[in-house]
Amino acid sequence: MSELKDQIDLQKLPRHIAVIMDGNGRWAKAHGKPRVFGHKNGVKSVREITEAAAELGVEYLTLYAFSTENWSRPKLEVNALMHLLIQTVRNELKTLNDNSIRLNAIGDLTKLPEKTYKVLMEGIENTKTNNRMTLNLALNYSSRWEILNAVKKMASDIKQDVLDPKAIDESCFESYLTTKGIPDPELLIRTSGEQRISNYLLWQIAYSELYFTNVYWPDFRKDNFYKAILDYQSRERRFGKTSEQL
Ligand code: IPE
Ligand code: IPE
Ligand code: MG
Repeated sequence: MSELKDQIDLQKLPRHIAVIMDGNGRWAKAHGKPRVFGHKNGVKSVREITEAAAELGVEYLTLYAFSTENWSRPKLEVNALMHLLIQTVRNELKTLNDNSIRLNAIGDLTKLPEKTYKVLMEGIENTKTNNRMTLNLALNYSSRWEILNAVKKMASDIKQDVLDPKAIDESCFESYLTTKGIPDPELLIRTSGEQRISNYLLWQIAYSELYFTNVYWPDFRKDNFYKAILDYQSRERRFGKTSEQL
């Protein structure tokens, strides 16, 4: 039994943890291997962290797997990532179902290669009745795209008289985002030492606790994840109030 895991206060567990899985390429380079080797090893971390989150009782785990900006990478790498996604969804389907984990995806999914889209949709369909945890993959995701898309849909609904501009409040706006129905992440983790958001969940992380670690994603294991949660639990979330008011 892991000692770190035992220190976690299950009453104060984040319901939603978002992760920017970063550092696969640098990890591969450090091992004298091509970048794709890093991505393949990153899948092992995805498996571990998904398992750790589900075991603890986290309800939503959102992993940044591919950003809209990532299309600018060399074609070989992009193709390898899309192929890896197909393989991973197929290989993990049984484990997801055995553990009652529901697969979901956010992003501009229709722009994914046909095969990738198809396998992803099959995975989502085949796990839709699972209710222990939702594994949410951000794929071809960009927060500015998401926000603009919401605005466009709202404008169109207003034009068609199904939305009253006066009714637009935070919860109405959220219902137009791809994360509709999912609570905001209490904790955002980014690996690899970079301290930026890279167009991820801009609206949703308004009050998230940010946790950065130098560990590259393929080295990120359960204990690293527990450490992030313990760090989160040591913080005072004031939401604008004073310490005394809490
Ligand atoms: C994260 O690792 C995975 C994806 C963005 C798909 P990177 O591939 O960004 O690795 P680094 O940042 O180049 O080391
Ligand atoms: C962010 O990582 C996107 C994903 C983890 C999928 P990047 O490596 O693409 O981000 P930048 O380029 O360092 O901002
Ligand atoms: Mg990176």
